[in-house]
Amino acid sequence: MSSWRKFPLLFFLQCMSVLCLGFSVAATDTLSVGESLTGNRTLVSKGRKFELGFFSPPTDNSGYYVGIWYKQIPGRTVIWVMNRDCPVSDPSSAELTVAPDRSLVLLLNGNRSKKPIWSSTSKKINYTVLRTSNDESVVVAVLLDTGNLVLRNTLEENIWQSFEHPTDTLVPGGRVGLKKRTGAYQALVSWRSAVDPSTGLYMDRVDPHGSGQYAFMWNGTTVYHNLGAWNGQRFTSVPEMGISTRYKYISVDNDEEVRFSFQVADPPTVSRIVMSPHGQLTMFVWSDEPGQWLLHWATPTSPCDVYSVCGPFGLCDVASSQYCRCLPGFGAGSSSPGDWSCGCARKTSLHCGNGDNASSSTDGFLPVRNVKLPTNSSYFSKAGAGSPGDCELACLSNCSCTAYAFKDGCLVWGDGLRNVQQLPDGDATASTLFLRVAAADLAVASNHDGFYSVSSVALLSTLCFFLVVAWRRRRAKTVGHDGSLLVFSHGTLARCTKNYSHKLGMGSFGSVYKGMLSDHTAVAVKRLELGSAAQGEKQFRAEVRTLGTIQHVNLVRLRGFSATKHERLLVYDYMPNGSLASALSGPSFGLLDWSTRFGIMAGVARGLAYLHEQCQERILHCDVKPENILLDAAFCPKVADFGMAKLIGRDFSRVLTTARGTVGYLAPEWILGLPVTAKADVYSYGMTLLELISGRRNRDAGAGRGVGHFPLWAATKAAEGRFLALLDERLAGRADMEELGRACNAACWCIQESEAVRPAMGQVVQVLEGSLTVGAAPVPRYLELFCAEDSRML
Ligand SMILES: *[C@@H]1O[C@H](CO)[C@@H](O)[C@H](O)[C@H]1NC(C)=O
Ligand SMILES: *[C@@H]1O[C@H](CO)[C@@H](O)[C@H](O)[C@H]1NC(C)=O
Ligand SMILES: *[C@@H]1O[C@H](CO)[C@@H](O)[C@H](O)[C@H]1NC(C)=O
Ligand SMILES: *[C@@H]1O[C@H](CO)[C@@H](O)[C@H](O)[C@H]1NC(C)=O
Ligand SMILES: *[C@@H]1O[C@H](CO)[C@@H](O)[C@H](O)[C@H]1NC(C)=O
Ligand SMILES: *[C@@H]1O[C@H](CO)[C@@H](O)[C@H](O)[C@H]1NC(C)=O
Ligand SMILES: *[C@@H]1O[C@H](CO)[C@@H](O)[C@H](O)[C@H]1NC(C)=O
Ligand SMILES: *[C@@H]1O[C@H](CO)[C@@H](O)[C@H](O)[C@H]1NC(C)=O
Ligand SMILES: *[C@@H]1O[C@H](CO)[C@@H](O)[C@H](O)[C@H]1NC(C)=O
Repeated sequence: MSSWRKFPLLFFLQCMSVLCLGFSVAATDTLSVGESLTGNRTLVSKGRKFELGFFSPPTDNSGYYVGIWYKQIPGRTVIWVMNRDCPVSDPSSAELTVAPDRSLVLLLNGNRSKKPIWSSTSKKINYTVLRTSNDESVVVAVLLDTGNLVLRNTLEENIWQSFEHPTDTLVPGGRVGLKKRTGAYQALVSWRSAVDPSTGLYMDRVDPHGSGQYAFMWNGTTVYHNLGAWNGQRFTSVPEMGISTRYKYISVDNDEEVRFSFQVADPPTVSRIVMSPHGQLTMFVWSDEPGQWLLHWATPTSPCDVYSVCGPFGLCDVASSQYCRCLPGFGAGSSSPGDWSCGCARKTSLHCGNGDNASSSTDGFLPVRNVKLPTNSSYFSKAGAGSPGDCELACLSNCSCTAYAFKDGCLVWGDGLRNVQQLPDGDATASTLFLRVAAADLAVASNHDGFYSVSSVALLSTLCFFLVVAWRRRRAKTVGHDGSLLVFSHGTLARCTKNYSHKLGMGSFGSVYKGMLSDHTAVAVKRLELGSAAQGEKQFRAEVRTLGTIQHVNLVRLRGFSATKHERLLVYDYMPNGSLASALSGPSFGLLDWSTRFGIMAGVARGLAYLHEQCQERILHCDVKPENILLDAAFCPKVADFGMAKLIGRDFSRVLTTARGTVGYLAPEWILGLPVTAKADVYSYGMTLLELISGRRNRDAGAGRGVGHFPLWAATKAAEGRFLALLDERLAGRADMEELGRACNAACWCIQESEAVRPAMGQVVQVLEGSLTVGAAPVPRYLELFCAEDSRML
């Protein structure tokens, strides 16, 4: 009874404290004359969408900026910065206030005077006397739910707004462009780096000759990218803008102005367009699940196509997550992380030009292989030399020559070599650039060349391991029957394939031939192309390291290999019914009954579960798709092609971000360049499952069949429980409805955007077998966004 009485009082007290607390932190969206914002106080827009206040970028101690960011999105994504080039060291010694002269000012409080460091007007005002002014004009600063900070008078007119003075970001409602009467241009100007809001080097501009077209410019001088003409919906050079009807882009060119802006049809979708520190215009869309900004499009598509993205003597490599590194003999030129505008500096200055005579210079040239040469830098010219030797001499004898290459003639570069791009191994357009460095750096860098021999050592040790295993087994007289690898001689394989006369098909980096061993077992022999590409070599090692150590009825069996100086061969069991991909697109696939198909689905799941969960080292396949699933005589599936497979080891995430699976089967985290886990295979398996159920290929999706984007169509059917609508029409409904339901649900869970929500492969097996029951998965709506992403990667 007594506790009853106490309760209301306690309750009341708690309410009071909540109210008080709520009241003390309740932020307002308005700043009136005489009020000021300082320290950690912020303005919050009415619907709590945006917040304005002082912030300091992470990992940067340059100071504090006044900015606007999304209130609801974790990680503080800043869309506008007030004082980008004059940060304050202490936010409690600075204040943002509305001055009686109807301007918004940021003041630094000195001992006796207040010093303005930013103002919405260019007029000169004595801020020391501000507070004592009796001026009655009523103006307020309001942060709106659009992210716009406006200065409003009593007539509700905006006399100034941040949307007219963007930093690097455009949000719906904001705009960039040219006011023709005044010539004033509002551009998006990049941040200096991801952690430095100061004015960067990249911006957009409208063609000064009146074509109304937009171009991107470096450091106010060099135009490096054109958006092309406006076709009513999008810029011609950015087809990705036309992919989703959710976004409406607007480009206006009339007597008054040239203007670009965008709207979102579905307002809760949060999106922004940013001129990135890498000089790409990028559009991002927020996804609550997994709580990340997803890249919707970027133009130019590669940061390496942006002028001077890595600065002088930097090397751009799209395959690396950092994009930039220094050419050999050079070190980073800027101390601030991620800021490549200064490029790289020589470790040792050149001998030539230091009072010495060019022809007696001790400088030398370092080869930089597999690069795309910059041919339109202003420091580039063609010299009249007729041979590589003459070209080298021509460069050596001119102290301002920093590099040369011999490609259809002698090409030489002067000071400030920029835009050298690393190309992937085996790119036919690649060249070698000879870079001038001091003698001291020549020696150091040639040690670095030893890298190649180191990797050969790694291969040898891999092979030695298997040779030892094979040799031990041979003594135990169980050769080849217990799963140990056989080492074949080159001649044996040439004979058993009849000199490679019966070609079964092309795999990645090599052709596959049919052969017959002396005991009459049929085998498939893959002959990897070594050539200039290291890819064949990589695939060889990946297959031997992964498949060589394991065996499972649903994994293709590697019987052995042959490795000679010039050749790498892999020997597998022969699969008479080819790949699932050729089966799916062949006319006889319709004849495969449901139980055979269901057997294939479950078999592939078991094979992958074994790789992920039952091997000593966890193995990710990384390229699950129908092309890589083979069928034996009884249509038992065998997962094949382990050329991209990864053993999870020390540096697993780094390795994975540079690998690339197949478009259409890539999990969202992979597209985003994040480290992937076994759940990326689960995702690819889900896509494959949808193809098996429907008998349609993922990529030939929309082709006249009225299904639009295939995965989205299929997932929607599955999520809605309309399993029969998803089933291959050729089966005319002849399927076990319970198995069909399990397969559809499993597929839909596998392709969820969040890895955490996707089941593990072992759980998929249980779902298919019926020992684990799951309900319908939500429709993976993000697929709409990823249509665009997929096509970008094509
Ligand atoms: C805001 O600043 C005050 C005074 O410096 C401090 O006491 C308070 O803890 C700060 N609040 C937050 C949320 O950081
Ligand atoms: C303010 O006064 C202190 C102590 O008198 C002095 O050290 C400091 O430099 C002054 N600051 C400014 C901005 O004048
Ligand atoms: C600003 O006003 C104060 C007080 O009237 C005066 O002492 C000071 O000289 C003025 N400063 C300027 C730059 O006019
Ligand atoms: C940008 O141009 C200015 C003026 O021409 C020059 O001083 C500056 O060094 C340039 N910036 C870079 C990073 O090259
Ligand atoms: C470089 O040349 C290419 C093709 O010739 C051209 O499209 C591009 O705009 C040029 N870039 C610069 C920065 O001049
Ligand atoms: C440069 O070296 C060459 C050959 O060693 C010599 O003939 C020439 O006189 C030298 N020139 C100068 C300016 O020292
Ligand atoms: C040396 O090279 C620079 C840059 O390529 C060039 O501008 C200059 O004309 C060359 N000088 C001679 C003497 O060839
Ligand atoms: C295979 O080709 C080699 C050379 O191309 C030839 O010498 C050899 O006789 C051929 N062997 C068979 C079985 O065809
Ligand atoms: C599958 O392989 C078996 C055994 O080689 C063969 O009889 C059958 O015709 C093949 N089926 C298809 C559809 O190719």
